[in-house]
Amino acid sequence: MAKKAPERITITAALPYTNGPIHIGHLAGVYVPADIYARYQRLQGKDVAFICGSDEHGVAIPMKAKKEGVSPKEIIDKYHGIIKRSFQDFGISFDNYSRTSAKIHHETASDFFKKLYEQGDFIEETTAQLYDEEAQQFLADRFVTGTCPRCGYHEAYGDQCENCGSSLNATDLINPKSTLTGAIPTLKKTKHWFLPLDRYQGFLKKWILEGHKTDWKPNVYGQCKSWIEEGLKPRAVTRDLDWGIPVPVPEAEGKVLYVWFDAPIGYISSTKEWAEREGIDWEPYWKDKDTKLLHFIGKDNIVFHCIIFPSMLKAHGDFVLPENVPANEFLNLEGNKLSTSKNWAVWLHEYLEEFPNMQDVLRYTLTANAPETKDNDFTWKDFQARNNNELVAIFGNFVNRALVLTQKYYDGIIPGPSEFREIDHEVLDTLRQFPARISDSLERYRFREASQELMQLARLGNKYLADEEPWKLIKTDEQRTKTVMFVALQIATALAVLCEPFLPFTAKKLKALLHLEPVQGNETDEKPPGWSDISTSDILLPANHQINKSELLFRKIEDSEIEKQLQKLNATKQANQAAKTSLEPQKTTITFEDFTKMDLRVGTIVAAEKMPKADKLLVLQVDTGLDTRTIVSGIAQSFTPEEILGKQVTVLVNLAPRKLRGVESQGMILMTENEKGKLVFVNPDETGVTKGESIN
Ligand code: 2FM
Ligand code: ZN
Repeated sequence: MAKKAPERITITAALPYTNGPIHIGHLAGVYVPADIYARYQRLQGKDVAFICGSDEHGVAIPMKAKKEGVSPKEIIDKYHGIIKRSFQDFGISFDNYSRTSAKIHHETASDFFKKLYEQGDFIEETTAQLYDEEAQQFLADRFVTGTCPRCGYHEAYGDQCENCGSSLNATDLINPKSTLTGAIPTLKKTKHWFLPLDRYQGFLKKWILEGHKTDWKPNVYGQCKSWIEEGLKPRAVTRDLDWGIPVPVPEAEGKVLYVWFDAPIGYISSTKEWAEREGIDWEPYWKDKDTKLLHFIGKDNIVFHCIIFPSMLKAHGDFVLPENVPANEFLNLEGNKLSTSKNWAVWLHEYLEEFPNMQDVLRYTLTANAPETKDNDFTWKDFQARNNNELVAIFGNFVNRALVLTQKYYDGIIPGPSEFREIDHEVLDTLRQFPARISDSLERYRFREASQELMQLARLGNKYLADEEPWKLIKTDEQRTKTVMFVALQIATALAVLCEPFLPFTAKKLKALLHLEPVQGNETDEKPPGWSDISTSDILLPANHQINKSELLFRKIEDSEIEKQLQKLNATKQANQAAKTSLEPQKTTITFEDFTKMDLRVGTIVAAEKMPKADKLLVLQVDTGLDTRTIVSGIAQSFTPEEILGKQVTVLVNLAPRKLRGVESQGMILMTENEKGKLVFVNPDETGVTKGESIN
């Protein structure tokens, strides 16, 4: 009978933009869970294609290049190299890591567009788009910021609001502003191709809302539901830019594919590149209906992977749809949002300089504390605690005791057990349940839970040794000691196998210590146990097997090391603060005429009191020379009423009155911030004018 082919799983991990290195947020949200899953499925004997690559057409790339005075190509080459290296360093076991600037990708994405174009799947429309007259450029996506129409956030981008996660069109923004020149954009007509998502509304509703209600994560399902129920609109898949894949139709001169059209096709081109190298057929990984396609992403990518890309795949017609999209929420760092531009991050390449060979510690911490169902915080203290209290004190301690005692008592040769007692049977039975317990969590994409199950197994071993105390037994009962050590070594072996998806470097080291992997020049006939052997085999590590000299798996992290990291973050915070106060950008130009409209006078504060129930407001009586009037000023957090009484101030007297908390304010006291960010009066003592006189 022919052997049944293993189940095929295509696992994709979001293609990172090459406009900066990657940090712990990327690892926690996408790459570590994806890698755990891929490694786990390979251990199940599945036919896995784990696919990724660099997303090199993001609009932030030419923007960064412009800022740094280099070409976009230099930017992508630099960061593609750094990112690829970080993934390798952290053991992210991609079968292929490609890049969207590759020829194979340009061809694949162009062909994909052409097929949809020829099938009549796009609508062509000439619409008015935001245009920067000064830069002579259309302003899509990141080239424009403004107020988010959904949540009111002031710094939303033209394609997305980073505050509420909404995906936007640049023309949706309220008060748009060009990020290139600061200019207020005008509207200019241009032709584009749109994917009419409204046509896929029915299909998406049936496929996601009816088909994946229970197996997709609630955060993913919920976002899809709100998108679909709100009603989908056609979405432009081309852009007026000079960075990207040229739109492959004659009348599209100077236009490129929208980066979110080409990027997910990158998963397909990366699979092709891999298959070509391996000499295998790529098509089953994307076209065979039995292939399980999974996209690992962060929550800001949900709409693209659950709504837009599936609609593209559906339109194309040849491809399978994702079976699941296990998106994570975001990771914060010490209470603040991770930010590349603010350097608020733990960069992977820097982490390894500080903690060499400690990749697994970070992998473990990020998994145990993964932002699976809600945003979560990474703190250095938690990192230290996870390492010292779990990896060192439980996992490492157990393994080390088992190995060291085996060396000490038996010269590293596994002793033959004598009679098993009840406790031994219990421990071995419990041990056999662990593969299923871990699998059960992983199959449901519960990586935190799975990592804690693994730690439970180490706890089981630790407790067993603590209860049986072989270091005492050896003096009184050699036979019993042999049995206890034999059982402990079975647990250590199970740990070496089951920890591999989570702690691949540790697994390798532990397998070497246990002499499970054939050592070069000293090949053994024994086949190392696999995942399923843990629950089915009576013996994982046989008597008389020789293990290697023991070494510590983990080391303690000292307070001083954590302190150093916290100080580093503190320095970043201060630098950001200083940059913010000294670099507040200049506002848009006003004319001299605008300026002379302001009637600025010198006044004296003759009375001051706090506004009841308002933290920030003071109610002032100001003698302006013209009159004594009420002015409400938002300075209560910087000044007490007493300290400003009698103070000479600059007053804008012809500002239209307005009510604040029911009190009419008839002017404004001029204030500014000093270089330290402290609020200070615009001091009339230095203007040389006297009370009531006009300043300008
Ligand atoms: O958000 C991001 O970082 C994107 N570069 C992810 C792209 S995923 C895929 F579609 F390519
Ligand atoms: Zn918003």
